[in-house]
Order: sequence, then structure tokens, then C-alpha cells
Amino acid sequence: MKTILTGLRINSDLQLGNYLGAIAPMVRLANAHNKDHRINFFIPDLHSIISNIDGDLQTNIIRNVKYYLAAGLEINDNVHIYRQSYVPAHSELNWILNCSATMGELNRMTQYKEKGEGKSSVNVGIFDYPVLMAADILLYDATYVPVGEDQFQHLELTRNIATRFNHKYGEIFTIPAPTAEQAKAMGQDDGKGIRIRDLTNPEKKMSKSTPGENSKIMLSDTPAVAAKKIMSATTDSVGTIRFDMFNQPGISNLLQIEALVTNTPLQEVISTWSGETSYGDLKQKVASSVSTMLAELQAKFAAIPDELIYELFASGEKYANEAANIKLLAVQKAVNLR
Ligand code: TRP
Repeated sequence: MKTILTGLRINSDLQLGNYLGAIAPMVRLANAHNKDHRINFFIPDLHSIISNIDGDLQTNIIRNVKYYLAAGLEINDNVHIYRQSYVPAHSELNWILNCSATMGELNRMTQYKEKGEGKSSVNVGIFDYPVLMAADILLYDATYVPVGEDQFQHLELTRNIATRFNHKYGEIFTIPAPTAEQAKAMGQDDGKGIRIRDLTNPEKKMSKSTPGENSKIMLSDTPAVAAKKIMSATTDSVGTIRFDMFNQPGISNLLQIEALVTNTPLQEVISTWSGETSYGDLKQKVASSVSTMLAELQAKFAAIPDELIYELFASGEKYANEAANIKLLAVQKAVNLR
């Protein structure tokens, strides 16, 4: 059985773009493959402490996992949810892999370069983060690692580190599939993911850090507030509805939101609305779809007790420690630490 593994980045406050672009697609992917793949979902909490955390990390962890369940993530014997810091083998393998990775390789990581840009001091964690990520993946012989485009470079680094290690010490690690192959095998689109745009400034993607209450819909917004935000979304003066991200980004964004929220193919939504002239009607429809979706999601979320999450962690972490320790021992033996 092949393994699909991914780290669920912990956000302090989730917005609709996170849900439609990351949580919901990941849940669909896991549910589609959970009969014949092992599915490892883990919380990269050691990655979270690299920078200052908004809010309380423990609260955020529980809340995020609840959103995955509320979004319909099915749990069966193949699905494992665990926290990285509860599996010490991650840190241990990180160190061993540090002795294989090179400064030159890590210096080329664009995310590190961007984060460090213009800063007088950068912590070593930011620099070394991709090697910890390699450990997260290689400990479990993961073949598929569905991640956003911003993580492709880290995945390639993982492949390089593993290949080099195997070459030197024998066939210890499974090499994850190349990024191009990953998206295809998992039935994802071109791997670029969907970017929901900012409601008031539709040239930009929706992000929790953009200023302005009306620019984004938080998953915690009441359905009525969310509907109001859609009604006040920036459109254009063209006067006819068309899907044209370049000339009509606001309208196109609304069409895309409607498609995702109602689980309808985008082409179908486009052909329903193309040529219509009432932006108000489109907004009404999207506002109603978004508020219905939010109401359902929030009701499911509220029904999940914290204890359920802790139970999932307990069984997930038991599995993860067993699996990871077997791999770690093989690595320790290979490098002559055992
Ligand atoms: N770096 C990933 C992100 O920012 C999260 C992550 C950490 C991850 N370790 C991983 C993803 C291992 C996949 C596999 O989204």
C-alpha cells in the first residue's frame, strides 16, 4: 500500500480561500484514496514555532483538525492524524539528514530567500525547515505528497537528499514521486491550485493579512455577515457577466466561488451566467450559496467534541511512532550510530 502524506499547516484564523483552496480539495483527495492508500495527515507543529504565532497554538491545532473533519474527512484504519512534535523521530532524522544536505542547496530555497530578505537576523529554523520537511516525508516512505506550488522546491530537495543518502548507504528511503507525476497520479488539476481572490481588491488573492473587513470571509463569520461581504464585493463597469480573470477579476472570482461552494463544475456555472447583465442577481446567488455552506460547515464543526480530536491523535501518534522508529533505526544502523 502506497502512502500519501501531507502536513496541514496551522493557521491562526482560517478564511474561505483556505477552505476552498486547501482544506476541501485535500479532504476530497484523501476520501478518494483511503481504501487503497495509507493516508498520513500530520500537524507540523515544529514548523509552526519558526515564526511568531498569532493566537494560541494548541487552540489553533484543535480548531484546524476540526475543520478537516467538518469538511467531511473520512477516518478509517488507513487514515492517521498525528502531531509532529509527538513523534521525536522527526527531529532525530532531521539532524541526521542535516549531515547530508548542503548549505548550497538550502541557500537556493526561494521561500527562505524571501523570508530572510532584508532581515538583519534570520533564525536557523527558517533555513533548516526544508530538511525537517524531508524527514517528515522520508520517515514514512511516502510516495505522494500533495502540496501547493510553493512547496515543490522543498519536495524536490527531499528527493535529492533521499537519492544521495540511498546512494551512499543503501536502499533506505522510498523516493517520493516527482512533483509533475504527483498531481497526475492523485487526480489533481495542474497542481496550481485555486486562488480565491480578495473581495474588495480582486487582483490579489484572498488572505487573512490583507486589511479591510470586507476583503475576506472568515470561516467564523456568521452566514449573514458573509452574505453582506459578498454583496459588497468589488466588480467592474463592463455590465455583462463573463469569466475573464484579466478584465473582470471580481465577477470571475464570484463565479469561481459559486462553483466551488456548490460543488459544481466551473464551466457549468459560467454557462449559466454568461451574458447576464445583473451583477446584483449573481451576488445574491453567491451570497446565498456561501451562507448556506458556512452554516452547514459551522454546524458540523460545533458538533465535534475536543475529545474526539485527542482520541484521533492518540491512535495516530501510536501508529506514527511505531512506523517512524522502525525507519529511524534503519537509518541509524546505516550511518553506524547503532
Ligand atoms: N511546509 C509545508 C507548508 O508550509 C508544511 C509541511 C511540513 C509539509 N512538513 C511537510 C507538507 C511534509 C508536506 C510534507 O505547507
